[in-house]
Amino acid sequence: MHVLVTGGAGFIGSHTCLELLEAGNAVTVVDNLCNSSEESLRRVQELTGKPLRFYEGDVRDEALLQRIFAENAIDCVIHFAGLKAVGESVSMPWEYYDNNLGSTLVLTKVMKQAGVKKLIFSSSATVYSAGNQMPLTEESTTGNCTNPYGWTKYMIEQILQGIAFADPQWHICLLRYFTPIGAHESGRIGEDPQGIPNNLMPYITQVAVGRREQLNVFGDDYDTPDGTGVRDYIHVVDLAKGHLAAAKYAQTHAGCEAFNLGTGNGYSVLDMVHTFVDTNRVCVPYAITDRRPGDLAVCYADPDKSARLLGWKAEKNLVDMCRDAWNWQSKNPMGYQE
Ligand code: NAD
Ligand code: UFG
Repeated sequence: MHVLVTGGAGFIGSHTCLELLEAGNAVTVVDNLCNSSEESLRRVQELTGKPLRFYEGDVRDEALLQRIFAENAIDCVIHFAGLKAVGESVSMPWEYYDNNLGSTLVLTKVMKQAGVKKLIFSSSATVYSAGNQMPLTEESTTGNCTNPYGWTKYMIEQILQGIAFADPQWHICLLRYFTPIGAHESGRIGEDPQGIPNNLMPYITQVAVGRREQLNVFGDDYDTPDGTGVRDYIHVVDLAKGHLAAAKYAQTHAGCEAFNLGTGNGYSVLDMVHTFVDTNRVCVPYAITDRRPGDLAVCYADPDKSARLLGWKAEKNLVDMCRDAWNWQSKNPMGYQE
């Protein structure tokens, strides 16, 4: 299969490119590098010993996309490109709607022109409304998002459902990721956030490596066993493999279907800190601070539908995630910037 990966230089995209190449697929990437570095793709090729094709550019550039489809016999598209920082989306809503909706509209327009109608989309657990029972199933209520980023994912899901309803030749999977962390076991590729990390694991690894003084734990008065927030953390390599399973499923299944990609286990912030410290024998000083606005107490998946229909299940545990995240950060203290 020849797969076009939008946003393939990013955290999840680079790990997915690696798995796609290792499974014998041809890979073409389009990325404008607004939140990533071409170095990740160089390392993916070095690790696999296989080449991929890279176009530096914006997915909203219709002429560029037409050229990519004309120059490559694409069978399927995995669409990662987008902006993803929840807090930033509150202060820059227009940029989030423009980038995330705009890239999806241009991409699907050009796919339709090219007759390529198999699409895997990076959605998020953020599309689920607050107030659902846990674990979240694909039937849980969606909408009522608390920030523009979440709305872009919700709206794109609606757009793709509409496209598949109107034309039954489309085969679309909406992959709702829970909280992706970790890195490839080589320590050559990993998560490399710009500026101050928004997310827990990159913050922990930057404290451990000495780039930040201490971790702020956002609240210890939630209704959870230790009072800190509970999430379904998933290893990025498991997540990447979920995309291969979805791409295979999309070969033979028409329509537009949502799938949870999570482990089904919930861990607290302090579970994570303690597992990281014990696994890696490093110090992570932390202080309890106020809750982060918009955070849920608990969020974890029911991954049963993905197991049944995609034949996919997460295999790595929290120790694997903590070990691999630290292996990456300790070998690359400044990320891809040498
Ligand atoms: P990332 O920022 O590392 O990767 C996104 C990539 O897309 C980057 O390389 C960026 O340069 C590129 N990009 C952005 N806008 C573009 C555009 N208009 N044209 C071309 N390239 C563009 O993020 P990630 O963590 O790898 O996330 C990938 C996808 O998964 C995103 O859509 C994100 O919203 C979604 N997602 C991520 C998480 C998470 O916690 N990491 C959770 C749920 C969903
Ligand atoms: N947390 C801290 N301190 C930090 C960062 C996070 O205590 O410095 C806590 C949060 O309050 C939360 C937990 O750690 O309880 C996890 O927070 P993350 O920001 O790492 O992850 P989230 O589950 O909140 O969000 C992530 C992505 C979202 C995505 C969601 C589900 O950032 O975009 O997973 O896929 F929608």
